[in-house]
Amino acid sequence: MLLEQFPQEIRERMIPKTRDDLTYRCLGCEAGYDLSRLLYTCPSCGSLLMLVDTGFDKLKETPGKKWQRLFDSRRMLNVPALKGVYLFHELIGPHLPLEHIVYLGEGHTPVVRSNPALRHWAGTDIYFKNDGQNPSASFKDRGMASAISHLNHLIETGRVKKVLAVCASTGDTSAAAALYASYLGDKVASAVLLPEGKVTPQQLSQPLGAGAKVLMIPGVFDHAMKVVERLAQEYDVALLNSKNPWRIKGQESYSYEVAQQFDYALEGMAVVVPVGNAGNITAILTGFLSLFDLGIIKALPRVLAVQSHHADPVFRYYSNPPGKRVFEPVRVRPSVAQAAMIGNPVSMPRVIRLVEKYEDLAGEGAFAAVQVTEQEIMDSMLLADRSGHVACTQGGESLAGLKRAVDLGLVPAGEVAVLDSTAHHLKFVSFQEKYFEDSFEPEFEVVPKEELMNRPVPVRSKRAKRLPTEEDHLSGPELEDFVAATAQEVARILGIA
Ligand code: F0G
Repeated sequence: MLLEQFPQEIRERMIPKTRDDLTYRCLGCEAGYDLSRLLYTCPSCGSLLMLVDTGFDKLKETPGKKWQRLFDSRRMLNVPALKGVYLFHELIGPHLPLEHIVYLGEGHTPVVRSNPALRHWAGTDIYFKNDGQNPSASFKDRGMASAISHLNHLIETGRVKKVLAVCASTGDTSAAAALYASYLGDKVASAVLLPEGKVTPQQLSQPLGAGAKVLMIPGVFDHAMKVVERLAQEYDVALLNSKNPWRIKGQESYSYEVAQQFDYALEGMAVVVPVGNAGNITAILTGFLSLFDLGIIKALPRVLAVQSHHADPVFRYYSNPPGKRVFEPVRVRPSVAQAAMIGNPVSMPRVIRLVEKYEDLAGEGAFAAVQVTEQEIMDSMLLADRSGHVACTQGGESLAGLKRAVDLGLVPAGEVAVLDSTAHHLKFVSFQEKYFEDSFEPEFEVVPKEELMNRPVPVRSKRAKRLPTEEDHLSGPELEDFVAATAQEVARILGIA
């Protein structure tokens, strides 16, 4: 729709004006820093940095209903820079001129309602939000669009020169980082650090294809993360992990979209999130809090964090009552939710603070952490994918977590659950293969259920005189004979009359 076709009172705000109200603030000592530097931790005390919008209170002068109308109208506007996460420009990157925004088709992923059988199985209404339908096939593109757009802005305004962008990853951050960096061509070189043997072949192919330098580090993600943190401290590099607060900003768009897709009525809703490095849950909680603060939503949804019993530091923290909680990293064990196989989540200090605020506003029980088994994750993924979804193992973890929460009474029957399906099924097919071939190493503790297994069936009709080969595709009566005999054999296998 063309700008001039929108009603006057909306039209003037359709193209956002930029404002420079954002600053970094240290989560520990509260020191403030301006945005012009590449900063990820506080130079004075080393704590995480948050982005603070000193102009946020001014946004409250616009009534919630007007924000809703603005965001809903913007969906119809065909300006590429505002087509992705920057549809919510005022909340995500108000300092960015549109020409510095990098848009590769991220965000606005569909919510797909589950079929009656799956809803009955879980005991609630269910919608999967398919974040695997992002350009690099995971939710990471939301945060990467934001981090890379900000970096592009620093480069274009001469504050940063050609830069090397680095990240540690379980596979999806690296795919997104390499993709977005490659779009900027010579301005940004990209290097990714991966735990050797702990990313799937599909995930590994992504940064390789995008031309990034791919470095394999011994150990698990937590080791690679420590190395990259050291690099960011001692060298002049741009860090693209969720320690970078711009990543969090972009990922807040998940919450804004959920609100928009449910017409801003989030009462009686539970949002279910698989947790690894805890960047996503940080972003999702922050996003809902901002919407609530601005009066755009009138109720905060329940938020459920899900972890595997093989990588569950966040669950363990919250399994103690308030006052008795002490955070301790865990030593991870092999997990089918490999992308979330993290023992020392970088954003944990952010989560602790946000959950307190969330529960203050929405009441006790508005946040909960649940633990699921590896077996439940695999079974749930397959169940989802047999019900019309495209869930990866982490999406399966969301479904398993919902089921657990319903069984524990943490989610009342009748609530509407929105499951974060964080990546596309195809990135994690190697775990499906292990399940179907019953080849899981014992440490995974997964035993395939016959009813969920599936295998390809070779068809060789004994009645066919000849079978086609690479050299001879058959023709005439031989081809006719092969087709007739094979059709008969297929009918026999399928049991059709
Ligand atoms: N689901 C998928 C598919 C992921 O790739 C990740 C994290 C998570 C869930 C957990 O999200 O870390 O924000 O709590 N992957 C990161 C990576 C760590 O490097 O790709 P989180």
